[in-house]
Amino acid sequence: MAGAGISTPSGIPDFRSPGSGLYDNLQQYNLPYAEAIFEINYFHHNPKPFFALAKELYPGNYQPNLSHYFIRLLHDKGQLLRMYTQNIDGLERMAGIPPKMLVEAHGTFATATCTMCRKEYNGEELRPDIMEGTVPKCPTCKGVIKPDIVFFGEELPPHFFRYLTDFPVADLLIIMGTSLEVEPFASLAGAVRGSVSRLLINRDLVGPFAWGLQRHNDIAELGDVVSGVKKLADALGWMQELEDLMARTTDRALKKNEE
Ligand code: OAD
Ligand code: ZN
Repeated sequence: MAGAGISTPSGIPDFRSPGSGLYDNLQQYNLPYAEAIFEINYFHHNPKPFFALAKELYPGNYQPNLSHYFIRLLHDKGQLLRMYTQNIDGLERMAGIPPKMLVEAHGTFATATCTMCRKEYNGEELRPDIMEGTVPKCPTCKGVIKPDIVFFGEELPPHFFRYLTDFPVADLLIIMGTSLEVEPFASLAGAVRGSVSRLLINRDLVGPFAWGLQRHNDIAELGDVVSGVKKLADALGWMQELEDLMARTTDRALKKNEE
């Protein structure tokens, strides 16, 4: 399970860290309150603040970091059952984690839907408008096209319910870079069997780790997520492989950008 804290080392602010988090830095948009940027009713009233943020977060501006590549390596080794992420920055896909291994619980910029006629679009079709600061409109009905990001007041994507079959068969749960404050995602932490270890890699204790609801086999590695993941990779003897994978993939991405 992952959240915005795995992408802060890539330069993307998280939501709730005091001072640096997105919710403390939205003054320029004159929102009635910070979370309105992700509220569906507010979006229908004024989509501009969301699209300003979308321009910043649109896939391509940021690169995955060691935490994303660690998950990719878990997958390459056949050890990943699934990655449940709340992030909408697309860095998991960029690190080469196949979409079928991902549950992007809060959606993705990879696809988009017209808010009026429900016509589906590829995220790339919206890129020119979003980069120009224009609200993308549906050529068919002139409705606003909204990236498939899950807003407060919207349902989670159907594949979120994969957790019903995934979590009961997991034999380790790694939780990284999330405040576990947003439901229903947060409650997944309680969905693994009682005998299963839960490893939290985060700056601070969160969710059941903070409320004194730990299980005897829970482990918390507090501090920077990259340092925590490095420690784990080291203990597994995977550090060299992880660095090689990162170098290879980043090289390829840079070459692609130059083309
Ligand atoms: P939050 O901002 O709520 O929490 C991020 C967590 O990561 C906090 O506990 C930070 O202390 C920790 N953190 C940040 N940087 C870190 C670092 N370098 N190393 C270790 N820990 C670090 O973000 P989320 O939990 O992802 O919803 O927020 C959940 C949802 O709330 C988001 O998906 C978003 C937001 O409203 C939507 O976009 C729909
Ligand atoms: Zn339409």
